Amino acid sequence: LSPTRASSATWASCWPDSPPGRGSLSRMVVAIDGPAGAGKSTVARALARALGFIYLDSGAMYRAVGLMTLRQGGAASERAEELELQIGERVLANGEDVTEAIRAPDVSEAASKVATNPGVRAALVKKQRELLSDGDWVVEGRDIGTVVAPEAAVKVFLTASPEERARRRADELGTDVDTVLRDQALRDAQDTAREHSPLAVAPGAVELDTDGLTVEQVVERIARLVEASR
Ligand code: DC
Repeated sequence: LSPTRASSATWASCWPDSPPGRGSLSRMVVAIDGPAGAGKSTVARALARALGFIYLDSGAMYRAVGLMTLRQGGAASERAEELELQIGERVLANGEDVTEAIRAPDVSEAASKVATNPGVRAALVKKQRELLSDGDWVVEGRDIGTVVAPEAAVKVFLTASPEERARRRADELGTDVDTVLRDQALRDAQDTAREHSPLAVAPGAVELDTDGLTVEQVVERIARLVEASR
């Protein structure tokens, strides 16, 4: 699994190696959790770029397992354990570029389903923790602040109204809002009600409602939290 370091921008160029006040051996994790369509990906990517941190989209891992399970069948936990992932600008699963394939609606549904499987979660959480053991990261998902990295220096729970989230996703996919709203309600229910690591606000997380805020405003607020935690 080899994610890319976000290209350096303003802050990173000021502090190329070790930001002020932090030892060179320290690491920092910024956990960004929340429901689909709250703006996690856009915000997490932009934040990683601004800070010079590595960006990890943990949802892409569940999507890759969903895709492989749809295609190959069998136990989803086995598909998760055998999965070789490279996540950067492109997502490679077992050597194949699945960047577009994992965004298909049937794969979204399959990802949400395999995410309820404790064996799948254990395999992916293990891979995520291995990655996060070194370096500075912005990680987005559903259970980053609660399970994967409860010790994260900054934990954010991003939200937005269901209508706003559906509108954003419909824009992204080029589909109609009503269909997205219906699918979204289903996935929200599945993600929140599942027995293992349901979507929940982590203790110590800052809840941020992105309705009416620009991406820049959200990124700036989280960047201030990161600054305050250094
Ligand atoms: O963020 P996303 O829509 O790409 O996530 C795909 C699915 O994976 C979604 O149903 C929630 C699940 N997921 C999860 O359970 N835990 C994570 N850390 C990330 C995603």
